[in-house]
Amino acid sequence: MTTTTSNDAVQAPGTTLGAAPGAVPDTMQAAVLREAGKGLQVETLRTPRPRAGEVLVRVAACGLCHSDLHVMGGAISFPLPAVLGHEVSGTIVEMGPGAEHTGLEVGQQVAGGFLMPCGQCEACASGRDELCGPFFELNRLKGVLYDGTTRLAALDGEPVSMYSMGGLAQYCVIPATSVAPVPAEIDMVPAAILGCAALTAYGAVRRGADLRYGETVAVVATGGVGTNIVQVARAFGASQVIAIDVSDDKLAPMPGYGATAVVNSVTQDAREEVLRLTRGKGVDVSFEALGIPATWTTALDVLADGGRMVPIGLGAGVQTAEVEINRTVRRSQSILGSYGARTRQDLPAVVDLAARGVINYKDVVSRRFPLEQVGAGYEALHNREVQGRAVVDMSL
Ligand SMILES: NC(=O)c1ccc[n+]([C@@H]2O[C@H](COP(=O)([O-])OP(=O)(O)OC[C@H]3O[C@@H](n4cnc5c(N)ncnc54)[C@H](O)[C@@H]3O)[C@@H](O)[C@H]2O)c1
Ligand SMILES: [Zn+2]
Ligand SMILES: [Zn+2]
Repeated sequence: MTTTTSNDAVQAPGTTLGAAPGAVPDTMQAAVLREAGKGLQVETLRTPRPRAGEVLVRVAACGLCHSDLHVMGGAISFPLPAVLGHEVSGTIVEMGPGAEHTGLEVGQQVAGGFLMPCGQCEACASGRDELCGPFFELNRLKGVLYDGTTRLAALDGEPVSMYSMGGLAQYCVIPATSVAPVPAEIDMVPAAILGCAALTAYGAVRRGADLRYGETVAVVATGGVGTNIVQVARAFGASQVIAIDVSDDKLAPMPGYGATAVVNSVTQDAREEVLRLTRGKGVDVSFEALGIPATWTTALDVLADGGRMVPIGLGAGVQTAEVEINRTVRRSQSILGSYGARTRQDLPAVVDLAARGVINYKDVVSRRFPLEQVGAGYEALHNREVQGRAVVDMSL
């Protein structure tokens, strides 16, 4: 890897918390992926420092998302060593220069969104944060931020890539474009899920589907993201929300999040059940939240004529799914991929939904691991043992 780190360079100091308890230490603990398939190891790294337009956040918690599993297993390639973790909550402890007009300040509690728009490209200029080219090219392909370098380094200076902000660490640097202040009443540990699971769900419902009041919905795969889609769809006025999964355990709490019916696609015929529940029509919108051929098939099978299928699940690398050509064409069905959301517009909206209790972010977080046990957390996620979301709680 040829990237350099900010730690090698002299840089103007930002505003710090001064003598407050939490003054930034020189080193920190972080979960590092050194080799795909070999799991994460907790190491001591240099504490990153923010550059222009960035903030340094002391992490309260970081959620464990299925997308990380794709990187950890090597199905989605990423420059290593790397710190993963892309949905965080925490407190701003330092501001880089050039963030004066963001309204952010040291001491503020924030949620960090995984999709970090550069704020300068054509897509960003048109408000389409989720299509930001530099985000893909620099962060998703090279593991760096917008000046082409990573903020992370091992003690010997070895650069360490950042998947999004590299949230599985005690501190992380985040572009100011992708943090949203959270009000005092927000519970900071479960708030970690706002930046991916809830943000992605909001993007799928608001942007992908453009869901309208009274429409009928199915959510295929009710894990961390799917559970949030159920909630957001209900909040947007869906008249029916049918939760579909292969696990009765995952389905059991769905009515509490707003599902009007649950279907186990192993023990029941999902299409038959959904047609029965929708007077033979199928649903107006089906969300797919796993990214495998089977869930695409289910989502398309339960769709009404003229319906919109919104896939959110990422495949394990290059993956294809079958679509019945004539049915899609003759029934005027749409397939509307949805990646994240428009961070700058939508993350504050998600925080607001959580703060007002419209979505329940607290109960979605069913398990909390200390950073030392992050490996056990991902193993549980891999083994499908996690209801809703698991998080690493930095206070444990
Ligand atoms: N588009 C985006 O912006 C975005 C953002 C975050 C995550 N993702 C992707 O979303 C997907 C879900 O992530 P997550 O963290 O919620 O995963 P998760 O592991 O928490 O949940 C997966 C769920 O799928 C269920 N499932 C397994 N096989 C199934 C089948 N055949 N039919 C129905 N359900 C089935 C499991 O029981 C589980 O409830 C992943 O592919 C992830 O990479 C995409
Ligand atoms: Zn995620
Ligand atoms: Zn951009």
